[in-house]
Amino acid sequence: MDLARRRNLRRRSQLYVPGNEEKMILKAATLEEDSVILDLEDAVPAGEKEVARAIIKRLSNEIDWGGRELCVRVNPVGSPEHVRDISLVNRLGAVHTVLVPKAEGDCSSVNKKSGKLIMPIVETAKGLMMLDAAVESSGITAITFGAADYANSVGGSIDSYIGNQTIRTLLVAAARSFGIEAIDDVFFDLQDLEGFRRQASEARSLGFSGKQVIHPSQIQMANLVFSPSNKEVRWAEKVVREFRRASKEKRGAIRVNGKLVDAVHYRLATGIINRSTRDGS
Ligand code: COA
Ligand code: MG
Repeated sequence: MDLARRRNLRRRSQLYVPGNEEKMILKAATLEEDSVILDLEDAVPAGEKEVARAIIKRLSNEIDWGGRELCVRVNPVGSPEHVRDISLVNRLGAVHTVLVPKAEGDCSSVNKKSGKLIMPIVETAKGLMMLDAAVESSGITAITFGAADYANSVGGSIDSYIGNQTIRTLLVAAARSFGIEAIDDVFFDLQDLEGFRRQASEARSLGFSGKQVIHPSQIQMANLVFSPSNKEVRWAEKVVREFRRASKEKRGAIRVNGKLVDAVHYRLATGIINRSTRDGS
């Protein structure tokens, strides 16, 4: 897969799996997530890191991952574990992308040393202040946010930073200004699927392309929310049809379903159709 295609990988749902949980990793390959993250960082206890590396080394190659993006979340830059993690992923041909936790500014070194695409996780106060430098990193393919670590870094609460509109807006602007995707943070309450749906819908309407998930029960909802709905596709097809017909008559502003449609709506509509074609393929 070339770099341009990898940049277009679909990430409506991005499932975290602890790297030392062999059974869960095997299960992940049978589920419907677009992207899977084998974790070597916070979901793996300090004494289990080497075990997790051995499992990831074996399973990343043994399993047929289908069309999924295969990611590994390594330990933070500067830690001894990070060096060991990078030396492993560098040798794993099946891995597309490295998630860089606690990213603070330029992460190009991770791309250069691992030979993989990178996805920084902004989750410290300094990381947020250095967002511009992070999105300029070489090999960047997407960016995400970590509310729990961020809350910890500023002495705030997780509830105030999960779904925080200011940070979400900044993240999407930084990502889109460099032509990459922003992926929404995880939602910790496994029993509140409606809360998950609400959070995912808000993220999508702000411009996020997908959401990270932590349990199989959240995958289907993420895929649904981040795919164009039938209603949206019907609207888009109508707008494209009517706008093209009007263009032939040298008209740029028309009425569709009682509302103004002009070139901006045509651009939005073609974007929806392109996404629905991709999601359906
Ligand atoms: N990936 C793949 N499979 C998973 C999974 C995951 N993230 N989470 C649960 N499963 C599987 C279980 O193995 C189980 O499979 P089985 O029915 O075939 O035995 C099934 O889904 C149901 O799991 P459940 O019993 O509901 O999960 P749990 O209560 O034991 O675990 C968590 C809950 C949150 C601990 C677990 O989902 C998890 O570890 N999530 C990922 C955490 C993580 O990686 N965090 C880092 C980023 S925040
Ligand atoms: Mg974190």
